[in-house]
Amino acid sequence: MTITVANTEKEFYNLAAWRIAEEISNKPDALFGFSTGRTTGGIHAALVEIYNRYPFDTSRLTVFGLDEITNVSRDYFGSCYYMLLNELVKPLGIPVENYIMPPTHSNNFLRECRDYENALSARGPVALQILGIGENGHIGFNQPGSSFGSTAWVSKMDPELDSRIRRETGSPPDADLGGLTLGIKNIMQSKKILLVANGERKAQIIRDALLGPVTEKVPASVLQLHPDCEVILDTEAAGKMRDEEFGRRN
Ligand code: GLP
Repeated sequence: MTITVANTEKEFYNLAAWRIAEEISNKPDALFGFSTGRTTGGIHAALVEIYNRYPFDTSRLTVFGLDEITNVSRDYFGSCYYMLLNELVKPLGIPVENYIMPPTHSNNFLRECRDYENALSARGPVALQILGIGENGHIGFNQPGSSFGSTAWVSKMDPELDSRIRRETGSPPDADLGGLTLGIKNIMQSKKILLVANGERKAQIIRDALLGPVTEKVPASVLQLHPDCEVILDTEAAGKMRDEEFGRRN
């Protein structure tokens, strides 16, 4: 695992975006996994800026989202489909047929999970999976306690996100909001992983995930076992680790 610490927020977004641009340029016909959130949103914007200045070939690239909210419209601005479409697929000129996402509506999400994995395997392996991290250590929608052996599944939405989505979408109380996510086992099968985190609110979980025990209680701690995982942080997210504990690079 290599850990790089950026000195400013802008440097953090740019550093991560350049790493992704570099990987895409080296493997222009490969499969790349993205995730949504405030952290990756800033990185996507920086990646689009790089692309506009120094265009790279995206015509053969296949991209997918790590997770999706169930039982909301794809047109909802908080759906992962909508976010990645507008943050990446459209501005990078990625052909829409090369954008793979699970549906948000279905009468059989179990089947959708298997179909999603099969669609990815048909284009796989995943050359690079970009991951954010939740303050409780979740990756994708794999909350603490998720099995390291999990494959794509629908996890229970955490109460805070659940109420935000209901507020924003006006979903009825009986709408079953869930988090359809690639499982930890799927994530670990990616050839390369880039974990990104910024801000003070991530400092404790970053310490726990990168330096603490590998445990299902902290899903992101599994990344310590991945043979090619790179971590990019800002100084705040790295704030609870001493340089000598992780061999600081910047
Ligand atoms: C959501 C997503 C995760 C993401 C996380 C972090 O829970 N399902 O894939 O990593 O948010 O979001 P943020 O960057 O906004 O902290």
